[in-house]
Amino acid sequence: MEEEQGDKALERKVGEAMRRPFIASISGKGGVGKTTLTALLLKVLLENEVDDVILVVDADPATNLPEALGIKIDKTIGDVVEEFRSKMLEFSEQGVDKPSILSYWVLRDCFVELERFDFIAMGRGEGEGCYCYVNSILTGVLTRILKNYTVVLMDMEAGLEHLNRRVDRYVNTLIVVVDPSAMSLRTAERIIKVTKEVNINPEKFYVVGNRIPEDLEEKIANFVKSIGYEYAGTLPEDELVARYSIEGRPLLSLPSSSKAVKAAKEIAKNIGLID
Ligand SMILES: Nc1ncnc2c1ncn2[C@@H]1O[C@H](COP(=O)(O)OP(=O)(O)OP(=O)(O)O)[C@@H](O)[C@H]1O
Ligand SMILES: [Mg+2]
Repeated sequence: MEEEQGDKALERKVGEAMRRPFIASISGKGGVGKTTLTALLLKVLLENEVDDVILVVDADPATNLPEALGIKIDKTIGDVVEEFRSKMLEFSEQGVDKPSILSYWVLRDCFVELERFDFIAMGRGEGEGCYCYVNSILTGVLTRILKNYTVVLMDMEAGLEHLNRRVDRYVNTLIVVVDPSAMSLRTAERIIKVTKEVNINPEKFYVVGNRIPEDLEEKIANFVKSIGYEYAGTLPEDELVARYSIEGRPLLSLPSSSKAVKAAKEIAKNIGLID
């Protein structure tokens, strides 16, 4: 009996190793539920009690994910870039290596190390051209640190621009959230096209439906299959999610028995995040 358990544990470890690193971006049209899904996937991953080393990235300048997770951040990359700009003149007088100082500051000030996962938020800069710049700093930081993690979950900005900036260049699992609107399906269609145009090459393309009425599920699943995605499941409308969001309570403390968490668990299984 003990031996069987040992074999099973080994089998599980080998299975996990084969599916890691799991580097996912969660994207889609504005307001479809990207941040909610990111938080719920993290929740079910944390409940799964495997020894993954997890990084969570808020790659949306609006920076909504910390609140959804109930964590405090001191500075975003955008904040650090602004600070750096204000000191730029001083640095040029001293003849120092500016890019190295900036990466050092970002890692020192933006990186939040929590008990179960690490977190970093992109934020936004204020100046002209700052959007691009802050994106490129995030990408540079990810290039340096991704190798330290077995799971990376990235909550992306609405739309497609992040693909052009190639913030998701290391992603091997691309997840697009859709709601029951033609516009969200069109965004999913454009995401898969642009991904190919800019040479981002994930291994897996999934769509997750959010708040899709049951009678539309099959139709939407068939449509997304026809454009190159696997349909990973549906998050139901969950009154508790809405309540937690309005009350500013973290989605990580939702009860495991809630509709949305149960559905997220199924989705996490379907995309290979958990067994
Ligand atoms: N399944 C659900 N049940 C109930 N409320 C939900 C559900 N999904 C999302 N919501 C609510 O809808 C709103 C938008 O969700 P969310 O912030 O996750 O979308 P988003 O795609 O990240 O938006 P943005 O494009 O602004 O980043 C939030 O208030 C959230 O609480
Ligand atoms: Mg969001």
